[in-house]
Amino acid sequence: MFTPDGPSFRELTVQAMSSVEHGYDLLAPKFDATPFRTSTRLLTATTQALRPLGPFTTGLDVCCGTGAGLEVLESLCTERVAGVDFSTGMLSAAREAHPEATLIRADALSLPFAPSFDLAISLGAFGHFLPEDRPRIFTQIHASLRPGGLLAFPQPAPPRVGSRAYWTLWAFDAVMRVRNALWRPSFVMYYRTWPLADVLHDLQDAGFEVTLHPMESLGRREDGSPACRLVAARRT
Ligand SMILES: C[S@@+](CC[C@H](N)C(=O)[O-])C[C@H]1O[C@@H](n2cnc3c(N)ncnc32)[C@H](O)[C@@H]1O
Repeated sequence: MFTPDGPSFRELTVQAMSSVEHGYDLLAPKFDATPFRTSTRLLTATTQALRPLGPFTTGLDVCCGTGAGLEVLESLCTERVAGVDFSTGMLSAAREAHPEATLIRADALSLPFAPSFDLAISLGAFGHFLPEDRPRIFTQIHASLRPGGLLAFPQPAPPRVGSRAYWTLWAFDAVMRVRNALWRPSFVMYYRTWPLADVLHDLQDAGFEVTLHPMESLGRREDGSPACRLVAARRT
C-alpha cells in the first residue's frame, strides 16, 4: 500500500476519518495503486466463472469505483455497460479508464434504474453495507435486472477460525467498531458481516434463485472446499 504511487499513511488516516463517500473522493486518484482495488487475478476468475452463465447483453457494475468490474462486463456483454457509485472522484477515474461505459452517480441503496440489465456484478464493496442494509441492496439490484437477469459476485471462503487471517480481519472490524462508536461521520467497512448463509437467505427473500459456482482458478482450501465461490443469483 505504501508504494510511491499509493496513498501515504497520513492520507489513508484522513480518508478513514471521513465518510465513506468523501473518503473515496479523496482516495480516488491513488485508488488503483492500493490493494483495495479488485485484483486482476480475481477479475479474471470472475470473468471465467461468469462466461458459461451467459450470454449477456447489458451489464451493471454496482459500486464500480474506478472501474475494475467494468473490465469484466466489457469482456462479457455485447451491448451497454454501466457503472454506479456514489463517489464523484471514483466515477471520474472510471470515466477516464472506460470512456465507452455509462457512469451514474447514485447510492446503491436507492438505484435509479428500470429493470433493464441482464447482468449485475459487485466487487469488493459489500463490506460497506451493514447486515440490515443487505435486503435493501439486493431488492434494489433485483429491480434493476430484467426477469431472468443475473446478479453475481465472488464470495471468498471465511478464514479458518484461529488462523492469522481470521484474527487480522477480526482486529480490523474491532478497530472500525471503536472508531465508529467514537467518531462522526461513520465509515462503514467491515470484513465479517456477510456470512454466506445470511447472504443466501436475503437473496432468496429478495426474489432470487441462487446457485454457487466454485472459482477453481483461485484454488481450494486444505479441507478441499473452494477458496472462493461465485454467487449467481437469478431474478426469477
Ligand atoms: C473498495 S471500493 C471497490 C471498487 C471496485 N468495485 C473495485 O472492485 O475495485 C468500494 C466502492 O464502493 C463505493 N460505495 C460504497 N458505498 C456505496 C453506496 N452506498 N452507494 C454507491 N457506492 C458505494 C465506494 O464509493 C467505492 O468506490
